[in-house]
Amino acid sequence: MISKINEAVAFIQSKYSETPVVGIVLGSGLGSFTSEIKIEQEIHYSEIPHFPVSTVEGHSGKLILGELSGKKVVAMAGRFHYYEGYAAQDIVFPIRVMKYLGISTLLLSNAAGGVNRSYKVGDIMIIKDHISQFTPNPLIGKNEKEFGPRFPDMSEAYNKKLIAKAKEIAKAKGIDVKEGVYLAVTGPTFETHAEYRMVEALGGDAVGMSTVQEVIIANHMKVPCFAMSVITDVGIRDDDNVITHEEVLEAAKQAEPKLSHLFKELVASL
Ligand code: HPA
Repeated sequence: MISKINEAVAFIQSKYSETPVVGIVLGSGLGSFTSEIKIEQEIHYSEIPHFPVSTVEGHSGKLILGELSGKKVVAMAGRFHYYEGYAAQDIVFPIRVMKYLGISTLLLSNAAGGVNRSYKVGDIMIIKDHISQFTPNPLIGKNEKEFGPRFPDMSEAYNKKLIAKAKEIAKAKGIDVKEGVYLAVTGPTFETHAEYRMVEALGGDAVGMSTVQEVIIANHMKVPCFAMSVITDVGIRDDDNVITHEEVLEAAKQAEPKLSHLFKELVASL
């Protein structure tokens, strides 16, 4: 595993000599945030040794290196999901690569279903905690001590200081943000009504198909994380609600300016 990471890192460094300090993972329909980055290099995943290749619509599948709010950043436009058929270890490979490129903060976004009954389509939820017990843990298997401990602490999976800063930034700009628990499922099916109610009963405020495995890997390597969900549908609410991927992408696109502002200012504050 380490030698594969080193090969991927060496390849990226052969194309880009700066050290990114922030890693960014963009979710479904949220990839146009990359237009905020002063792009210095773009590398398609297919070119990078050992990188998986993204297949889902709405994910363009490239690594973007450049400057955002005066900081060097590395952004993934398109991430890998368990429902695409990758092993959990492959999904998180890029997160380890970003750490070895030099990042000391990881920002993530995703599209998620609203479960908390006060949420509306287009809301932004800062993830304060997660439930990952429905998707395979990417740390199952031999522990690589170089990355972190066998039994990693997850008591502050989402960094409290970053959450506090993001809330300040949102308040200053008049952006309404929720704060809640993200529960991860495998997908690719959206939830049945009974499943939405299960997520609610378990304490999830939003439900989605990504993020938690990446956050586990970042925590294993002691990289502080900050993540936001865009609420793209509210299936919990009414029994006739049909959810489509197109609707999810459209709602994510609508919310993107708010999310962009929060990410940009958060990076500026680091
Ligand atoms: N469920 C799971 N994942 C999702 C949803 C949802 O309702 N919306 C966007 N991603």
